[in-house]
Amino acid sequence: MTAPGFDPVERVFAADAVGRPVRLRGWVLRSRSSGGILFLVLRDRTGTVQVTGKKDVLGSAAFDAVEHVQVEGAVAVEGTVAVDPRAPGGREVRAAAFSVIDAGLPFPIFADQTEEFRLDKRHLAIRSQEHVATFRVKAELLRAFREFLDSESVLEMTPPILSGNAAEGGAEAFRFDYFGRPAYLSQTAQLYLEALLFPNERVYALTPSFRAEKSRTPRHLTEYLHLEAELAWCDLEGLLDFIERMVVHVAHALAARRAPELTALGRPPAELAALTSPFPRISYADALDRLAGQGFPVRWGSDLGTAEERALTLEERSPIFVTRFPREVKAFYMLPTAGDPRTVEAADLLAPEGYGEIVGASCRDTDAERLSRRLTEAGADPREYDWYLDLRRHGSVPHAGFGLGVERVLRWMLRREHIRETTPFPRTPSRHTP
Ligand code: 4AD
Ligand code: MG
Repeated sequence: MTAPGFDPVERVFAADAVGRPVRLRGWVLRSRSSGGILFLVLRDRTGTVQVTGKKDVLGSAAFDAVEHVQVEGAVAVEGTVAVDPRAPGGREVRAAAFSVIDAGLPFPIFADQTEEFRLDKRHLAIRSQEHVATFRVKAELLRAFREFLDSESVLEMTPPILSGNAAEGGAEAFRFDYFGRPAYLSQTAQLYLEALLFPNERVYALTPSFRAEKSRTPRHLTEYLHLEAELAWCDLEGLLDFIERMVVHVAHALAARRAPELTALGRPPAELAALTSPFPRISYADALDRLAGQGFPVRWGSDLGTAEERALTLEERSPIFVTRFPREVKAFYMLPTAGDPRTVEAADLLAPEGYGEIVGASCRDTDAERLSRRLTEAGADPREYDWYLDLRRHGSVPHAGFGLGVERVLRWMLRREHIRETTPFPRTPSRHTP
């Protein structure tokens, strides 16, 4: 059965398929046999279908061969589509001939194994229906982000991953030897996107970012996919408006295009379809008042941690922006608020239902001297950032940008307990294999 002309599994469920011949190939999800009849569920990229085969039709040699195919073994089958109310989807394929492509060894993954074991076998575990659904939604999410950015005339850029600067603070950067000089894995593409903003005005990048944080939490990865954009002539209001329209666009796109997967994963599509902009906005100062009332006292000047973000969003159904943070908790490049130098023109977008921060956003400071001072205060050497400060010396204009954690968004939208479920090969402090 190497000839061309195989049908996708979904063909079995087409309106005119009953009584027609089909040729399928794929992987065995499960199988059993009794009384000379074989029941096998076959999976391909388009779906799953029950296939039955009778010993007296197939011949005993072929029947025995298929009977010994393991879970996740690969087979091809020729047969006829029949109605069977007992089969999932109400149809099955009655096999006339089988061929075994790879019978496979016994599949090592089954129910009730530990999470650690499944992570060790991640290269095989990702065949589960749950993972297949998750990564289909992820692919659609990336498509929807790009679609939105394209419709807003924001140009995709390809910034480097290896860099001589640790942009978000050296302590959390992976450092390595670059031919005898120190180098870092990118924590953010922001500084490069700012450089690319001047010739292009509106730019974005979708690249991996790396954080050497030993945070073992359900929302931290050491490698994650970072969607970042920089927009010229943009203030904080304009930026937050852009971000919320983007989040609503992708939520609606997933609800419309991946409803079966969302449902299977426990997120009713209607909940994503119901998201609307604008999102509620509260200042950091108001957030502190609200938190104090909820029994989470936070001192002015301290960052909001996981517990505080959770408390702020647990009862929310929409993401919320927290704005105007104290400058000491935020990065050196954020623009001080006009009339209130204690705060910066920055906002975090917190996902509802307790999921917490998914986007960090701010207006960028355009004052080279102040940037240089703040780099020094942050313990960095301004000379290493001279190329960045140059951007403020040649046609500097007001601009703003954001970074969004793709897996954080997915964790919220798919209601996953742990962020590692949103990426096929999660990198965490305790694991970088397989
Ligand atoms: O808030 P962060 O650190 O901001 C920046 O890196 C900015 N330079 C981005 C920019 O403005 N271009 O990171 C941005 C987002 C966070 O809101 C969060 O969603 C995600 O990146 N993120 C992580 N996601 C998974 N695992 C981690 N360890 C993450 N750290 C940040
Ligand atoms: Mg942040």
